[in-house]
Amino acid sequence: MTTLLSVSGVSRRFSTDVLTDVGLELKAGELVTMVGRSGSGKSALLALLAGFDQPDTGSIDITGLPAASSPPWSTMAVLPQSFGLLDELTLEENVASPMLFSGGEAGEAMATAAELLTRLGIGELTRRYPAEVSIGQRQRVALARAVAGKPKVLLADEPTAHLDHATIELAVQLLLDFVHDGSACLVATHDPALTARAHRRLQLVDGRLTEDQ
Ligand SMILES: Nc1ncnc2c1ncn2[C@@H]1O[C@H](COP(=O)(O)OP(=O)(O)O)[C@@H](O)[C@H]1O
Ligand SMILES: [Mg+2]
Repeated sequence: MTTLLSVSGVSRRFSTDVLTDVGLELKAGELVTMVGRSGSGKSALLALLAGFDQPDTGSIDITGLPAASSPPWSTMAVLPQSFGLLDELTLEENVASPMLFSGGEAGEAMATAAELLTRLGIGELTRRYPAEVSIGQRQRVALARAVAGKPKVLLADEPTAHLDHATIELAVQLLLDFVHDGSACLVATHDPALTARAHRRLQLVDGRLTEDQ
């Protein structure tokens, strides 16, 4: 399968070494989880992959281009721990925004957004604003928005942290269907329901990334 994300020899030091000689490949069709204790560097690694931060050594390519070139949302989407929703847009406008930014037709984008929200169990909230819904509902909006533009690579930081068991199942199935269509997803998570269904499992320990066999 096509390699969509390729990381080699990446190290990053803040006041201490946070990441040491990290290597990773993500291929089309893969849902890959990364676990590690709080403070182990999961978010720091995702920031490097997203091009928000630069490694001290090593290289990161997304669909063959350096991560630092800040690829468009149609190539790579990020679901940050803090969601990054736009407060002045309704929930469905938030979800539609990647499709609108990439030139999608408005009616179609809004319909797809409503479908995604319905799939995640909040189809009745499309016209609400982020401040008018719970944190778990906002997390679902952020997940819907992350997959809406069908990016080749999705980087998700603890995307099920505020969801209940039944909703986590909806989220996991959405992510599996998303990668099945030819994308790849790397998820930082502690969620056993997510790691159990992943195609591969990575661990970040003492700054080193290893794969569970
Ligand atoms: N921009 C930054 N400046 C300084 N230190 C940072 C920065 N980003 C992360 N760190 C440090 O790197 C370590 C890993 O943090 P983080 O990646 O947020 O952990 P995790 O997401 O696994 O909980 C922490 O010790 C944190 O303080
Ligand atoms: Mg984190």
